[in-house]
Amino acid sequence: MSQPFDVVVIGAGPGGYVAAIRAAQLGLKTACVDEFSNAAGEASLGGTCLNVGCIPSKALLESSENYERVAHKYAVHGISVTGLEFDVGKMLVRKDEIVSRLTQGIAFLFKKNQVTSLFGHGRILGRENDLWQIEVSYGESRQIVSTRHVILATGSKPRELPGVPFDNQLILDNTGALEIPEIPQRLGVIGAGVIGLEMGSVWKRLGSEVTLLEAAPGFLLAADEAVAREAHRIFTRDLGLDIHTAVMIHSVRKLDCQVEVDWTASDGVKTTSVFDKLIVCVGRVPNVDGLLGEGVELKLTERGFVETNAFNQTSLPNIWAVGDVAPGPMLAHKASEEGVAVAERIAGQQPSMDFACIPYIIYTSPEIAWVGKTEQALKAEGVEYKKGQFPFSPNGRALGLGEMVGFVKMLACAKTDRILGVHIIGPFASELIAEAVVAMEFKASSEDIARIIHAHPSLSEAIHEAALGCEKRGLHS
Ligand code: FAD
Ligand code: NAI
Repeated sequence: MSQPFDVVVIGAGPGGYVAAIRAAQLGLKTACVDEFSNAAGEASLGGTCLNVGCIPSKALLESSENYERVAHKYAVHGISVTGLEFDVGKMLVRKDEIVSRLTQGIAFLFKKNQVTSLFGHGRILGRENDLWQIEVSYGESRQIVSTRHVILATGSKPRELPGVPFDNQLILDNTGALEIPEIPQRLGVIGAGVIGLEMGSVWKRLGSEVTLLEAAPGFLLAADEAVAREAHRIFTRDLGLDIHTAVMIHSVRKLDCQVEVDWTASDGVKTTSVFDKLIVCVGRVPNVDGLLGEGVELKLTERGFVETNAFNQTSLPNIWAVGDVAPGPMLAHKASEEGVAVAERIAGQQPSMDFACIPYIIYTSPEIAWVGKTEQALKAEGVEYKKGQFPFSPNGRALGLGEMVGFVKMLACAKTDRILGVHIIGPFASELIAEAVVAMEFKASSEDIARIIHAHPSLSEAIHEAALGCEKRGLHS
C-alpha cells in the first residue's frame, strides 16, 4: 500500500475541492475522491455546484434574460429587431461550455496544488492504527487508500416526492431542469423555492406557461416579508408566473408525453393540471449513499445530515464534514468556507466562521439578496430596531439601466445602531449585498454606511440612502 495521506476529501464540490486545495497549500498530503461523471461518462470535478447547480443555472438565466431584453426592453433605447428567434440548443451548448471550462479549471488547480485526484466512489471501511481506510471504487476497479483525516463533502441530492420518481424526461430534478431540449408549452413546477423560481423564470421568459405549486402557506417565507411581497407582485404581475401557495399535491401521473398533477388550492378547489414537463424541486437531502462501510457508526441527525460540532468535527475521530452533507444552509459559499476552515484546523490553525453573515441570493430578475435578520424575525425576538428603506426607482443608475423595481431595506439596532439585516430586491442585488456583508462582519452601524462616500451614479447609493433612512435623514426620499 502507498504512503498514507494526511487528508482524504470525499466529494469534489465547492466544499470538498476547496478543502483539498487549502489542505495541500498548508503542506498536507491530500487526495480528493469524486465519482461525478458528465454525460460523456468523463470525470467532472466541481460537484453539484459546477456541474448541475449554481453555474449552469446562472448561464441559462442570463440567456433567457438577454432574450427578454431584446424582445421587450430594447425598443425604448431605439433598438429594434425583427425576426427574433431563440435557439435552445445553442443556449444549452453555451451552458455546457461554461461548465466544462470551470470543471477543467478544478482539475488544473488540483495539479497545480499537488492534490491527488481519485475518480470513483469513496467509502470509509474502518480505522487501523489511527489511519482511516478509504475504498475508492469505479466499475471493476478498486483501491484502498489510508489517511489520518477524512473530510466528508458528499453534498446533497434532490428530494423526491413519495411515489414520484424522477425520470428526467417528464419529471425532472435539477439535472433534468437544466437540459430541457425545447421550450415546453406548459411547465409545472412543484416547490416555489429557489430552484423553482430560478428555473421557472428561465422557461417563462422563453415562452412557457409556468405554474408553480407550493405547499407552504405563504410565498418565500425565509425572505423578509416586504421583499417577498414585492417579489410576488413582480413575478406574477410582470413576469406572469402562475404561483399558488398552500397547495396540497395529491398525485402525479405520467401520460405518454405529459404529466398530470392532481392538487388542491388554498381555497379547497381541486384541480388537475396537465404539463409537458414537471420540475420537482422540493428541497434537497444530504447524501451519504454508500459512504459508510460495515461497522462504521457515524452519527447522523434526525434529518440525515452528518452530525457535527461547531468545528465541523463528526462523532468519529479525525472525520470532519462540510457543505450540504453537514447541517446549515445548502449554499456553495457556506460549503467552501467550511472546507477552508476544516483544512486550517487540521493544520493546527484556529479559523472561525460567522454563520450570521452568510449572504442568501436568489438569481431571479430582479435579484433578491439578504444578509442577517429579517424584520419579522426581529419582531418575533422582541428586538427593538429602526429601519431605512429606499427604492431603486429614483436612482439614476437604475433608471439608466432600465431596472427601476425593488428597494434596499436596512435594519439596525434601535439602541446601538449596529446593522442587523440588509434586504435587497433589485438590479445586481447579488453584487450589492457584498457591502452589507462586509459591514455586518465588521459590526458596522447604519451611521458608518451613511457616512461612507458612495460613488455617483451607482446602485450602491440605494444602500447609502437606506442607511441614512435608519436615522430618518434620507436625502432623496
Ligand atoms: P456538492 O456540490 O453536492 O458536491 C458533492 C460531490 O461529492 C459530488 O460531485 C458527488 O458526486 C460527490 N460524491 C458524493 N458521494 C460520494 C462518494 N461516496 N464518493 C465519491 N464522490 C461522492 N448555491 C449557491 O450558493 N448559489 C447558487 O446560485 C446555487 N444554485 C444552485 C442551483 C441548483 C439548480 C442547485 C441544485 C443547487 C444550487 N446551489 C447554489 C446549492 C449548491 O450547489 C450546493 O450548496 C453546493 O454544491 C454544496 O457543495 P458541496 O461541496 O457540499 O456538495
Ligand atoms: P427550497 O428549500 O429553496 O424550496 C423548496 C420548496 O418546496 C419550499 O418552498 C417548500 O415549501 C416546497 N415544498 C416542499 N414540499 C413540497 C410539496 N410536497 N409540495 C409542494 N411544495 C413543497 O429548495 P430547492 O428549490 O429544491 O433548492 C434546494 C436547495 O438548493 C436550496 O435550499 C438552496 O439551498 C440551494 N439553491 C440555492 C440557490 C441560490 O443560492 N441561488 C439556487 C438553487 C438552489
